[in-house]
Amino acid sequence: MTGFSAQWLALREPADHRARDRALQDRICEQLATVARTEQRAVRLIDLGCGSGSNLRALATALPAQQHWTLVDYDPLLLTAARTALVSWADQVVSDSPLLTLRKNDKTIAIEFAQVDLARDIERVLTWPADAITAAAFFDLVAESWLVRFCKALRTTLYTVLTYDGFEQWLPTHAADAAMLNAFHAHQKTDKGFGIAAGPEAATIMQRELSACGFQVDLAPSPWQIDQTEAPLIQALATGSAAAVRETGLLTAQEVEQWLPARITAHHCTVGHWDILAIPKR
Ligand SMILES: C[S@@+](CC[C@H](N)C(=O)[O-])C[C@H]1O[C@@H](n2cnc3c(N)ncnc32)[C@H](O)[C@@H]1O
Repeated sequence: MTGFSAQWLALREPADHRARDRALQDRICEQLATVARTEQRAVRLIDLGCGSGSNLRALATALPAQQHWTLVDYDPLLLTAARTALVSWADQVVSDSPLLTLRKNDKTIAIEFAQVDLARDIERVLTWPADAITAAAFFDLVAESWLVRFCKALRTTLYTVLTYDGFEQWLPTHAADAAMLNAFHAHQKTDKGFGIAAGPEAATIMQRELSACGFQVDLAPSPWQIDQTEAPLIQALATGSAAAVRETGLLTAQEVEQWLPARITAHHCTVGHWDILAIPKR
């Protein structure tokens, strides 16, 4: 397992939510509002690699009043953390079984949790009923061959946010920034359980494969903009990058140790991402 901690996901959640491209988000919400209005039923979403449920918390209040979400992850600890975080985020728990049903503002949100290894079973998950497949900070983990499988099996709208694009700028700059970023990219392209990860290439591959499979594909940038008002996030990012770079062995331990304190005190950090909306043309 890649081992994302609920603490790390909670730390990044405000930056994630701020970064999302509003225009693409409005379009998926309008599309799902049309489904709800014309079919008079709850809209159904499947969130891949849900972690502790951040994507649901970002989207649900902008979606139609009746929603059914299936949150998918292979990590049972994160699925438990998602349930706990969603219950404390909600205004009210309507029922706890068989589905967790929450009220938030004027929305009624029924939630199923599914423990699935998406590296193995993505085709099965994509046969489940859904008006949209969603994901956040997930697709840069997967391999190009998996993306090809995914795009071939996808039958409905895909809305995915925060796929890392490889751009980083830390201010003030440091002499080792470029070498550190190169090494970090090398680490991004290691196996995260799906084969060699696409990392920063993921969005380009998705655009190509989804277009080839008959989807209208739109991308929009969604960079993190972080300053020292979120010092713990900058510190975690810098420490995480340093650890990844150490694993590659591409820089000496001394070079990494010199870079790290400068980055922890950086006054601003931009990290590039793409949001993607893909709608079947037929
Ligand atoms: C960067 S985290 C993002 C979590 C969440 N979407 C968010 O935005 O906070 C990536 C997520 O993908 C999940 N994941 C990684 N490999 C997986 C696999 N093979 N099957 C299912 N989930 C996986 C991880 O457990 C983790 O929750």
